[in-house]
Amino acid sequence: MIYPERISSCIKLMLYSAVWFCVWAVIVPFGGIQAYAGDTALLEKGERLVRQHCTRCHVVGDLNKYGGIGSTPSFGAIKSLTDWQDRFAAFWSLLPHPSVVQVEGLSPERPKGLLATTKQIFLNMDDVDAIQAYVNTVPVKDLGGGISYR
Ligand code: HEC
Repeated sequence: MIYPERISSCIKLMLYSAVWFCVWAVIVPFGGIQAYAGDTALLEKGERLVRQHCTRCHVVGDLNKYGGIGSTPSFGAIKSLTDWQDRFAAFWSLLPHPSVVQVEGLSPERPKGLLATTKQIFLNMDDVDAIQAYVNTVPVKDLGGGISYR
């Protein structure tokens, strides 16, 4: 015995699935493109901030191969340490940065009467996120292994 109403509900189900698949197929890549555009903007912002501020002392990948200050480790060298992510997570609180870098809402306020010895760097948490996103893309420097840094 054939039940026509069962067959038609089966066809309906297939049609619904096909429609939902099409909706999904349009939405998913679109969301992906948006996420990609967001990433690119974040990385560009990060590169701009790093180039503007950090390359004053650090060598950062290809941004300033022959720049930086000799006594300051390059980002590639810092990234060769196993705990580099922790170091970048709160770099503004690690010496020598507290006297140079101020992160809005996190760094203690600089005493007004304290003489400036170098140009101050002012960042907010969005800037820090962008810097960290960019730092993730900087290649690790192969120093031959076995370095220790405190
Ligand atoms: C005025 C110079 C100067 C500037 C500008 C500067 N740094 Fe540094 N940074 C240093 C020095 C010097 C060290 C090495 C400190 C040490 O040997 O303990 C260092 C170390 C670091 C470390 C490793 C910290 C640790 O204790 O292991 C990180 C991470 C870092 N810098 C991130 C940054 C970022 C990100 C910027 C840009 C927003 C930046 N620095 C700007 C001078 C600077």
